[in-house]
Amino acid sequence: MTSTLRIGIAGLGRLGRRHAENLAFRVRGCQLVSACSPVAAELDAAQRELGVTRLHADFDAFVRDPDIDAVVLVTPTALHAEQVIAALAAAKHVFVEKPLALGVADCERVERAARAHADRVAMVGFVRRFDASYAHARAHIEQGGIGRPFLVRSQTCDLLDPSGAFLKFAPTSGGIYMDCSVHDIDLARWMLGSPRATRVFASGTIAVHDELAAIGDVDNGLAIVEFDGGARAVFYASRTFAHGHETQTEVIGTAGKLLVGAGAARDRLQIADAHGVRQLAVADFVERFADAFLHEMQAFVDACRGEQRLALTLNDATEATRIGQAITRSLKSAMPESV
Ligand SMILES: NC(=O)c1ccc[n+]([C@@H]2O[C@H](COP(=O)([O-])OP(=O)(O)OC[C@H]3O[C@@H](n4cnc5c(N)ncnc54)[C@H](O)[C@@H]3O)[C@@H](O)[C@H]2O)c1
Repeated sequence: MTSTLRIGIAGLGRLGRRHAENLAFRVRGCQLVSACSPVAAELDAAQRELGVTRLHADFDAFVRDPDIDAVVLVTPTALHAEQVIAALAAAKHVFVEKPLALGVADCERVERAARAHADRVAMVGFVRRFDASYAHARAHIEQGGIGRPFLVRSQTCDLLDPSGAFLKFAPTSGGIYMDCSVHDIDLARWMLGSPRATRVFASGTIAVHDELAAIGDVDNGLAIVEFDGGARAVFYASRTFAHGHETQTEVIGTAGKLLVGAGAARDRLQIADAHGVRQLAVADFVERFADAFLHEMQAFVDACRGEQRLALTLNDATEATRIGQAITRSLKSAMPESV
């Protein structure tokens, strides 16, 4: 494809705004021409600051616009499945943020719709696959660098927001495992060669946000996942770290071990003074994965233009939801659960 890919974005919130800026100013081979949000102020900002000309409050009108080729969906998770299916029905390429859906049946419906529109790209935003260090780790494993990988220990830990702003989204996010650990679940499958998960056990606690008890959620959650063939994964998710955002993954193999993202250091600056020796911390996932968000969107555009094939599939997203849901069930039942 030589012509520019015309893109519309739905959802201009915390992450949508970031994707929109990348599409407007940094991603090659595309033009951000359209935006959709029920919030008028977000559409005004897209027009004023990003030069977007086609503005929609109504998703159906947005997705059926014949003058866009692809849509990027950064909308609340509960809307993902229906919106992806509508986009494919309108013959658009579609990128959707993680998780694909909160239920396995919805993920499978999306997979069926994608098979029926196999000439369209359908991609889920597992951004860590586009992070240089995670990609390096995966390549090293493929080359046999750590022998046979059999254990992944991975965590997604957010800086405590004393205002508890995330509590507004918590009831519809699917809980801490579907919202945060879903990334670690996808990473574990990717690093271990996509084995089938068989059984999980979860336990969690509320360290700060007591309001989560009413919706059966926790602000610190642990989970163990067993896979066919003997591989295991251990996940930790937190919303209450005092120092910064700390995404970290360890992959242990028979001939070595890999560690991605040790600690939360923002850069290589070390400050030594009367208080001791310290480094400043990464504030949030946007800062940690700034480059990966850009590479991810470039990969989507390149795939739509026929210039790249994506290794990441919708089925990967279905399996991440399947495991995430089993972990969430286990948190509630306090028992091991089959996947
Ligand atoms: N990849 C990651 O690391 C990562 C990080 C954060 C969020 N996410 C995912 O991104 C999605 C959005 O999260 P967020 O934190 O930006 O949420 P948000 O609430 O800040 O933004 C949601 C946006 O969707 C818009 N919206 C709501 N209903 C809509 C509709 N019917 N049609 C079009 N737009 C609609 C809202 O106006 C808002 O602009 C979630 O699925 C979340 O899981 C992924």
